[in-house]
Amino acid sequence: MDKLLIQGGTPLCGEIAISGAKNAALPILCASLLSSDSLHLSNVPRLKDVSTMLRLIEQMGVEVTHEGADSMALNSRGLNNPLAPYDLVKTMRASILVLGPLLARHGEARVSLPGGCAIGARPVEQHLRGLQAMGAEIQVEQGYIHARVGTRGLKGACIVTDMVTVTGTENLMMAAVLADGETVIENAAREPEVVDLANCLVSMGAQVSGAGTDKIRIRGVQRLHGASHAVMADRIETGTYLCAAAATAGEIRLTRTSAAYLDAVVDKLLDAGCDIVAEREAIRLKAPPRLKAVSVRTSPYPAFPTDMQAQFMAVNCVAEGSAVIRETIFENRFMHAVELIRLGADIKIDASNAMVTGVDRLDGATVMATDLRASASLVIAGLVAQGETMIERIYHLDRGYERIEEKLGQLGAQVRRIR
Ligand code: EPU
Repeated sequence: MDKLLIQGGTPLCGEIAISGAKNAALPILCASLLSSDSLHLSNVPRLKDVSTMLRLIEQMGVEVTHEGADSMALNSRGLNNPLAPYDLVKTMRASILVLGPLLARHGEARVSLPGGCAIGARPVEQHLRGLQAMGAEIQVEQGYIHARVGTRGLKGACIVTDMVTVTGTENLMMAAVLADGETVIENAAREPEVVDLANCLVSMGAQVSGAGTDKIRIRGVQRLHGASHAVMADRIETGTYLCAAAATAGEIRLTRTSAAYLDAVVDKLLDAGCDIVAEREAIRLKAPPRLKAVSVRTSPYPAFPTDMQAQFMAVNCVAEGSAVIRETIFENRFMHAVELIRLGADIKIDASNAMVTGVDRLDGATVMATDLRASASLVIAGLVAQGETMIERIYHLDRGYERIEEKLGQLGAQVRRIR
């Protein structure tokens, strides 16, 4: 298993380009299941999760033609196997996103029930309830969700989800685009990735309005056609590099991205003492010699994202003062804290609160990555720590950060992958 060796202590300086968003690309790849015409995608990040999703839809009969380093055409004319097997779903929970499109286009789907994961139980009953409201018959047998619709297909419905769910909203939106009549999703997720998916669906001929608000209306159409779509920039990758530069007292410029979807994160970095300039398609950050501790509380968009919580914990580890990090989305998303403590951090966990008191220095050690964003926080801490930090199990990082050691290297960090 690959490891990352970081020689810490160098401020990050320079410029890099941000990749397309993982959490937008994954549902958009599934949207290709909705039409028999080709969907041309660009700015698709080269990530493990993206290649897993491509493998998953390819074995269903989708033809994938790579057109450039980050662009491809997907054609699902030959869709013939509406199955998401356990061995793929267990490596990537986002596989559940094939359920809605398969039901809408094929009338049937068998998708392995995703299990719990390192950050929480993460059930999918809201996805299933919504599809049932649209007329799907669903049975869960031997670890598989078996969903079917009668000959008349899915019907529009009014769905109010019990909690804000990102992939739940996306699954239901994709199911509804070919349903008979109007679907209204209330308490919908407002995340920018939901909007990017909606924009892609609209360019395929779908009638979707209200994406980006908590009420999305979808009027079903007979068929969708081919389209071209550029995946939005990854706001979490952007935020992660901003935090890395902030924690190392660096100065960076991130291109092919925007501060537009990062208000909550930018506000916290300003509170911490950073100078930030938002350009049209770039962001600059200059960090002070020592950051001030900032408390954060995670919540659905537009509030502070849970996917940036671990990175802010790392930032606070070396800031001046104390901060409370409150996680409200996932019940077990503090696994990075014990690893940060191994580097010398002062963190006390009490249920969903972490009290972090900044220390003058961290010292390199061997640490273990437990999930994607936890790994990112360990990279940030490793970049700050004196001496060598070895991060084990970095396959988590490869799921969500494109060419991370190369991008960090461009910013002057000393990072090496050990195979
Ligand atoms: N939930 C339920 N039942 C459901 C659906 C969700 O109880 O049927 C709960 C979850 O257990 C969680 C909360 O609702 O406590 C929110 O979960 P949500 O469904 O929004 O999460 P998700 O759609 O599975 C996406 C991202 C995650 C990100 C969360 C929250 C993708 C592919 N994944 O997950 O991204 O943390 O939204 O913003 O979009 C990551 O990129 O590292 C990552 C974990």
